[in-house]
Amino acid sequence: MAKRNEKGSVFLVAALATVIVLLSAQVRPAAAVVDGGYNSTIEGIVNTEVAKFRALAAGLIRMAFHDCFVRGCDGSVMLDSTPYNSTNPTLAGKTEKASPSNGGLRGMEVIEIIRTKLKENNIIVSCADAIQFAAREAAKVVSNGKIAYPINGPGRRDGVKSSAEDPGMFLPGPMFTFAQLSTAFRNKGFSEPELVALSGAHCIGVTNGMSFADRRTAPLNEIDSAYQRLITSEWTPTGTFIMNIRDMGKDALKKSRYSPNQVNMAAIGTLDNSFYNANLQNMVRFKSDWELRTNTAANNLMGKYMTTPGLWEADFSAAMTKLSSLVIADTEGPIWEDGIREKCTATNLMSYPSTTP
Ligand code: HEM
Repeated sequence: MAKRNEKGSVFLVAALATVIVLLSAQVRPAAAVVDGGYNSTIEGIVNTEVAKFRALAAGLIRMAFHDCFVRGCDGSVMLDSTPYNSTNPTLAGKTEKASPSNGGLRGMEVIEIIRTKLKENNIIVSCADAIQFAAREAAKVVSNGKIAYPINGPGRRDGVKSSAEDPGMFLPGPMFTFAQLSTAFRNKGFSEPELVALSGAHCIGVTNGMSFADRRTAPLNEIDSAYQRLITSEWTPTGTFIMNIRDMGKDALKKSRYSPNQVNMAAIGTLDNSFYNANLQNMVRFKSDWELRTNTAANNLMGKYMTTPGLWEADFSAAMTKLSSLVIADTEGPIWEDGIREKCTATNLMSYPSTTP
């Protein structure tokens, strides 16, 4: 009897174990998600996909910033609509994507491609994770491996709230003063040196004409006169313009009288410290970029970033690690998906009660 009981218990335990394995497999099929480490398969796939879409690297890095500064790193930047949408009448029914602060945001299709590829490998990560991993790999690819920061995860949860008026409340604008920039970053736990370090991302990518329209008439203590003539002569309201003077071509370099100093001029499109060389010559697109010059400590730090090899890369990497960990507590109700979003553009309807707004 005792033996039969023992056999029965063994069978029961085995059956229970099987059920638990099956259940947990349904909820979290990815071993990578369970072990909580940055998984080499994820790294490989993300790296390959980002390398294919190299031109979008700037968009992916910007998207990581815009996701994390609004509601924390929760993938809310990718949502098309949820029952929790905006209460602002002019933005009613819209999500973060519709905010003017998110104008020109690009690279979302890469996130879906990455998640599809990972799924083929039986690895399911949240949209919030995929955005951060993609940005990390994008930074690595376009910095030629010099920026390879660690990030936590997988494990970020996908949020279900996204309102069009939120980005304007939390993201800095291109006409911000230094004090406004400092406040926006401090509100998210970032220091002024971290603001200076993160701003270096503006050495890659593009900008829309409207984002720097004011710079055409900026006083000449805020912008180099030859550079101002150059960007004014090319300007159209709907045009797309290369961010970094280094990358604008020989003609533009000649017209602006840009000094390369230590900048590697062959490294077009590379994420490096060249933003600071441009800014210290008053040759940056946005007033907000130039505003970093108005603060003595920030100005001095930019000088160090320009002249000390590796210093900016280290500080930028550390700030990106911190950025990728931003989680915002919300006491108003269910803010997370119950599991992982099926599609990054839509919430899983099962994740919140139907009676909530
Ligand atoms: C400090 C305050 C910041 C302001 C005011 C600002 C503002 C802007 C604006 C207006 C654009 C152009 C958008 C357009 O016209 O399409 C832009 C582009 C960009 N921003 Fe920022 N940004 C800031 C900080 C950051 C940070 C912290 C990062 C990343 C760590 C970042 C990364 C980028 C990148 C990579 C682009 C180019 C995007 C592309 O080519 O698709 N920015 N930013």
